[in-house]
Amino acid sequence: MAAQDPSLWWRQAVVYQVYPRSFKDTTGSGLGDLNGVTEKIDYLAALGVDAIWLSPFYPSELADGGYDVADYRAVDPRLGTMRDFDRLTETAHAAGLKIVVDIVPNHSSRLHPWFQAALHAAPGSPERNRYIFRDGRGPNGDEPPTRWVNHFGGPAWTRVPDGQWYLHMFTKEQPDFNWDNREVREDFLTTLRFWCDHGADGFRVDVAQALAKDLNRDDLDDYGVMSTNDMPADGSHPVLDRDEVHDIYHEWRREVFNRYDPPRFAVAEAWVRPERQYLYASPDDLGQIFNFEFAKADWTYPAMKAAIAEGLACAERSGSTSTWVMSNHDVHRHATRYALPQVPTHEYHQISADWALRMGRTYVENRPLGTRRARAALMLEMALPGSAYVYQGEELGLFEVPDIPWDRLEDPWPLRSDREESTKGRDGCRVPLPWTAADAPVPEHPNDQFGSHGSFGFSPAGAASDPHLPQPKWFKDFAVDVESDDPQSMLNFYRRVLALRHRLQTADTSCRWLDCDAPSGLNDGADGQPGGVIAYARENGWACVTNFASKPAALPGGEVLLTSAPLTDDGLLPQDASAWLSLR
Ligand code: GLC
Repeated sequence: MAAQDPSLWWRQAVVYQVYPRSFKDTTGSGLGDLNGVTEKIDYLAALGVDAIWLSPFYPSELADGGYDVADYRAVDPRLGTMRDFDRLTETAHAAGLKIVVDIVPNHSSRLHPWFQAALHAAPGSPERNRYIFRDGRGPNGDEPPTRWVNHFGGPAWTRVPDGQWYLHMFTKEQPDFNWDNREVREDFLTTLRFWCDHGADGFRVDVAQALAKDLNRDDLDDYGVMSTNDMPADGSHPVLDRDEVHDIYHEWRREVFNRYDPPRFAVAEAWVRPERQYLYASPDDLGQIFNFEFAKADWTYPAMKAAIAEGLACAERSGSTSTWVMSNHDVHRHATRYALPQVPTHEYHQISADWALRMGRTYVENRPLGTRRARAALMLEMALPGSAYVYQGEELGLFEVPDIPWDRLEDPWPLRSDREESTKGRDGCRVPLPWTAADAPVPEHPNDQFGSHGSFGFSPAGAASDPHLPQPKWFKDFAVDVESDDPQSMLNFYRRVLALRHRLQTADTSCRWLDCDAPSGLNDGADGQPGGVIAYARENGWACVTNFASKPAALPGGEVLLTSAPLTDDGLLPQDASAWLSLR
């Protein structure tokens, strides 16, 4: 069995995503902080993860959950200090955990000193040239330079008092940088070195496909900006997935990542067409790319099988390893996705109870079923070669919180859209974690699903502020202390799965389908969808079998190591269950 070269730890790591403002609050501010992560390093080490990816913790006005960065080389004072960051990194390293820092290079916050300087400088000035300012169209220049829509809805250009417009592919508080400007490039090299020097082992690169832009052409209005659906596969989109974006990452690789020992790695968050993913994952580029196919797939044989095949194919083409992602801070929690009807569209991924009711849809969350499938999905994911990204709270089996009152939402997505049309966006997966069943929020009236003056141990008892997003009453049953004491809990299941993965994992990333892998040929899967059995094995005979069909499935010969649900009396694998085996 080939052992993993320690400098290549990231090729098959389990990376735990911390959304810092919702992880653990040590000050009573209602916002999680860096010391909260440090306090829970033991918890994360015992969970069995290899690395912690910290979503942005920088100074920010929180127009987009911290993905609007006002200073790339500092900590939001509400979340701590650089000293706290250093202590967190030291504590994590001492516990054997790596640290991955989130870099947001496409846009800054409007509060960034460079953007403030740009606003106060004249059109055509070097200050404006760090961002993308243009004159408008029409006789008075009062029409935006293009008709593009930003990612959250509404125009992608905002006008400043002297009449020019600046580009923002996200909110107007997130102006896009001009990556043709050498000064911008140099500044990010400095930022990357800064975090490497402070102990970062790797980076997650936000919207990695969007940095290179070509606005000097006549067909700009033919594009809708952020939509990846109709994106060309040849790099010819004016702002997304252009070939020149890789010049930027090749420079990062040469000038920063490979200058450190061990070389740093990065993972691209780039929603690009599958056939273009390998460009970001190649060794002279960022090194890895998120494969979001699991996050998008319904719980059916064909969808999950295609997601795996897609990830493996991309890894093979890039020479890197695949990544597997079921949940993150941008999508509805997978326990909920699997608890909803598995209709063959993606609309349930962004559904909320409120929206569903208004649209006349059913929102019937079958929680036991969602939990059962989430357990099976974890085993399906964790035996695959490559890295698995676990989102905070999924180890507790948390469900989406779909009914946060409108006046408590923070996500710009629903808030800037027409309420009649909108879902409630991404806050439902960002609710602060429940650490204890005690210290529950107190309901103000019998129908209050949330309450106040309590935080399930997220904040210190008697904290001055409530958690920044409200925690529902039902979080009590998912608190870390409750689940720790229950051998059958999701938390203890995660611990078992990750411990076994560590024992079985080798450096060999080959993977082969087993003979028993097959569609059932019937619509006997979830909600009348196609069923079947996914079955694959690693080089050392470590095999995973997952049954999507209603008929229990026979397992290949071998020793059963772990199952996500009990086998039938005949030793068969029931529907919505996975088994790990050591093949004979
Ligand atoms: C990424 C982040 C998302 C953010 C967006 C803009 O997609 O994951 O949360 O809204 O970038 O920075």
